[in-house]
Amino acid sequence: MLFGLLGVIDMPKISRRSIVSVILAALAIAIGGCDNSSPSAPGAKGSSPGPSAVPATFTIGYSQCNRGEPWREQMDKDIEANASKYSAIKLIMKDAQNDALAQQAHVKEFIAQGVDVLIISPKDTSLTQVVADAYKAGIHVIVLDRKVEGDAYTCFIGADNRVIGAAVGKWVNDQLKGKGNVVELRGLSSSTPSVERSEPFRKAIEGTGIKVVYDADMEWLGDKAREKMQAALATNPEAGSINLVYGANDPAAIAAYYAAKDAGRENEMLFVGVDALPHEGIEAVRTGILNATFQYPNGADVAIDTALTIMKGETAPKTITLGTRLFTKDNVASGGEAVGNS
Ligand code: FRU
Repeated sequence: MLFGLLGVIDMPKISRRSIVSVILAALAIAIGGCDNSSPSAPGAKGSSPGPSAVPATFTIGYSQCNRGEPWREQMDKDIEANASKYSAIKLIMKDAQNDALAQQAHVKEFIAQGVDVLIISPKDTSLTQVVADAYKAGIHVIVLDRKVEGDAYTCFIGADNRVIGAAVGKWVNDQLKGKGNVVELRGLSSSTPSVERSEPFRKAIEGTGIKVVYDADMEWLGDKAREKMQAALATNPEAGSINLVYGANDPAAIAAYYAAKDAGRENEMLFVGVDALPHEGIEAVRTGILNATFQYPNGADVAIDTALTIMKGETAPKTITLGTRLFTKDNVASGGEAVGNS
């Protein structure tokens, strides 16, 4: 409410921020010196909810697995933009450049530094152990997008990839009228969205006349997807032998389109992806490269809100599920349509 009230007063951001810090510092002192900046083990027995005010300052260690992808670049920008609204937040960002060992080392550094909150978008489930170590060290851990194993974290935020996979399957069934040949370009198999986007898709086409004639792990990378699509085209050389490509993310679906275009075959097949970034997937639907994309929100705004909730001493839900939307040429101008319960 404090931020809301200040939001309507027209004054430069800096002075607004400094007023917020002064008020928050005063509140923290008035409340009796209760120091939330060094949290006890989250969820520890006997821990009682703290006062409803964030500490004057607290540190968020933010571990990104790979900034070199448009969707993650956007996630980083959104994390920064949302964090910068609060002078209480000191944000430290680290990019592991798609190297799981580097990301594990980053989390260890955050533990050694004693950050208050860790926000992590893990490369894959190999981050499970260090994430658990951070949580056990008393750091509040928010996991974004890809999951870790077990439940040694404070809160998981992400869209339901199983809902997306099932919705893709339904859309594919409708488009192909229950019959045809599909190429499936799956995400990195050691990361949870890969199997979660694939299994329900397979289930949805089970027992129909739709066959997956080629599938491969493209590791979430456009370049890899292009190579895999070239192989798919080579092993299915006759015109019309591939009717649709499901790329588990938009970079893959778009790369597959270009591989098909190079072979002069892009008009033989439909292309569907996941992510729906405005300047990537949605733009590709608008220009006719993709026939559809399903939105996969990055959750950055929710992650920062959740960090504030936790630092106020309130309990965050264990899981926050984000919605998804379907974009096609028919609905792109009107903002897509909701999928499932979203
Ligand atoms: C980016 C990305 C997105 C995808 C998500 C899955 O690294 O591949 O394109 O939706 O990760 O975790």
